[in-house]
Amino acid sequence: MHILVIGGAGYIGSHVVKALLDDGMQVSVFDNMSTGQEINLFDKAKFIKGDILDIHALEKVMSSGVDAVVHLAAKKSVAESIKYPEIYSTNNITGTLNILNAMAKFGVKNFVFSSSAAVYGMPEYTPLDELHPTNPINYYGYTKLAIEQFLPWYESLKGIKFVALRYFNAVGYDATLAVKGLEKNPQNLLPIVMEVATGARKSMSIFGNDYDTVDGTCVRDYIHVTDLASAHLKSLKYLAQGRDSQILNLGVGRGISVLEMVQALEKVIGKKLNYDFAPRRAGDPGFLIASSERAESLFGWKAMHSDLENIIRTTWNVYQAQ
Ligand code: UFG
Repeated sequence: MHILVIGGAGYIGSHVVKALLDDGMQVSVFDNMSTGQEINLFDKAKFIKGDILDIHALEKVMSSGVDAVVHLAAKKSVAESIKYPEIYSTNNITGTLNILNAMAKFGVKNFVFSSSAAVYGMPEYTPLDELHPTNPINYYGYTKLAIEQFLPWYESLKGIKFVALRYFNAVGYDATLAVKGLEKNPQNLLPIVMEVATGARKSMSIFGNDYDTVDGTCVRDYIHVTDLASAHLKSLKYLAQGRDSQILNLGVGRGISVLEMVQALEKVIGKKLNYDFAPRRAGDPGFLIASSERAESLFGWKAMHSDLENIIRTTWNVYQAQ
């Protein structure tokens, strides 16, 4: 199978590319390198520098004999999406529609889409299953939901089958150090904690210690990126069998608090990290845990690499190496 991975030079994308190559698939990477990094490219995957807003470039690559598309080229900062919604409309919505239109034009029928737990908004119950109402509380989450709502139309009108994967909190690095790119100006917890540990950042704030959780700090379902990558591989194989389109959660089903994450790294590096407690961050639910039973029963996917120790160790290995 020839798979086009759009956004394949990014953090999650490069791990997906590795999983597909390891499985013997032919892979092309299409990335505008705005946040993708050259260091994340693999020699065995053909690289095309291009933008999803460039319809001509998309049509050119779709006409080259692609069997399926994995699309991870999205803007993903919640805060930025509220400040500059137009960027998120253009990139995440228009860009994705450009991809679907180019697929439709050249008869590419299988699509794996990076969605997000951000489509749910404030949880009404946990663990969240796929039937939980979708009420995004930020514009980033809305852009993901909007695409999920286009997908059944493209299926019925253009025959494009899809698997939309709702990631919970993606963390970790490939254990063989095959992916080395560190995120620049990270907004997410683990890279920030890592930067404090390496000294690249003097200190960090923990947003809120008065939540109704084990230690008062927010609890999330952190899933190792190698587990996310294997779900993309399974989704592609599932679609290749001509089976029904799906929307699937990808999480572990267990929670780790912010403080537990910080303390786990302190334990590994054997020193205290510099942090303070700051007020709650707007829009943060206290508790976000996934039920991924649907992915498990559908194609036997299970998180295998997501224990806290492995998350910390694989991430620290990459940070320490640089
Ligand atoms: N946090 C801190 N200090 C920091 C950064 C984060 O205390 O410097 C806390 C946050 O308040 C939150 C937790 O760490 O409680 C995790 O925060 P992240 O920003 O890493 O992740 P989020 O849970 O906010 O969101 C992430 C992605 C979204 C995605 C969501 C899905 O950023 O794109 O997971 O669950 F939609």
